[in-house]
Amino acid sequence: MPEDTVPQHDGMMERAKRVRAGQSKGSLKAEVNGVHDLAVAMLADGDKLLERAHLIERFKEFGLCRDNGQSMAHLQDWFNSSSVGLLQIPTEFADFLLYCAKYRPSSMVEIGVYTGGTSFMAAAFFKALNPEFKLTAVDIADYILLEQRTIDLLDIQICTPKTSGDFYAQEFDIVFIDGDHSYKWAKTDYLNLGRFAKYVCGFHDINAHECSKTDGGIVKFWRQLRHSLAEKYAVLQICHSALGTGMREDGDWMGIGVVDHGGRAAS
Ligand SMILES: C[S@@+](CC[C@H](N)C(=O)[O-])C[C@H]1O[C@@H](n2cnc3c(N)ncnc32)[C@H](O)[C@@H]1O
Repeated sequence: MPEDTVPQHDGMMERAKRVRAGQSKGSLKAEVNGVHDLAVAMLADGDKLLERAHLIERFKEFGLCRDNGQSMAHLQDWFNSSSVGLLQIPTEFADFLLYCAKYRPSSMVEIGVYTGGTSFMAAAFFKALNPEFKLTAVDIADYILLEQRTIDLLDIQICTPKTSGDFYAQEFDIVFIDGDHSYKWAKTDYLNLGRFAKYVCGFHDINAHECSKTDGGIVKFWRQLRHSLAEKYAVLQICHSALGTGMREDGDWMGIGVVDHGGRAAS
């Protein structure tokens, strides 16, 4: 079995350690090397990344994490050969970054980083706009497929094993919530960190109906929250899923919810 298809979580942590130490092999090694070069190129791009077409090209160079399902069947020309890459509808996350760019943030916390796809793109993008930028990557385990030199270059602080509870009430310019998608955890992450975001709190998977079975999941929490906050803050949704994707006939899937505090964090 190629080393990038190890299925269990212990194997994924071992794989992350090998990548960190520069000891990965095959396509994984080639792709993490390429990701470092991409980071260097994006930092050199600076404000050119604010041109949407150029940013989408950079997203395409980063690519999507190879999967063996049908989840993003219409994006076959985006897939990598290894687990390196995004696990998102790429244009949704690109538009999320572009929306936040008006604040030129200097800090972001991401809750739930998995292999580090969104962490990488966010850190490279925001650091290109603001050299002071730092990203705090919070997860219950370290599966991040970035070499140490890339992590250092982009000022990513890996915080594992941790949850939002370890950062209660700390203020970050941007908070991106993509951890446990249950109702309990979506709400907990918002109460611990999201409501204290100085500028923007984003939620990934506001249409993750596959996570709704037990307690309503993030789908239920987001619908409560968006209505609760819409009078006070700008609340937006970035949803680009194609018909036929996800588990519903109408293709309603993934999606990013945005609460814009505009410098006035919720109490
Ligand atoms: C969907 S993945 C994140 C994907 C990542 N944001 C991306 O798009 O590349 C969810 C991650 O959340 C982590 N996780 C699960 N429960 C968590 C919790 N309570 N707090 C923090 N992270 C959690 C998992 O270990 C997993 O890595």
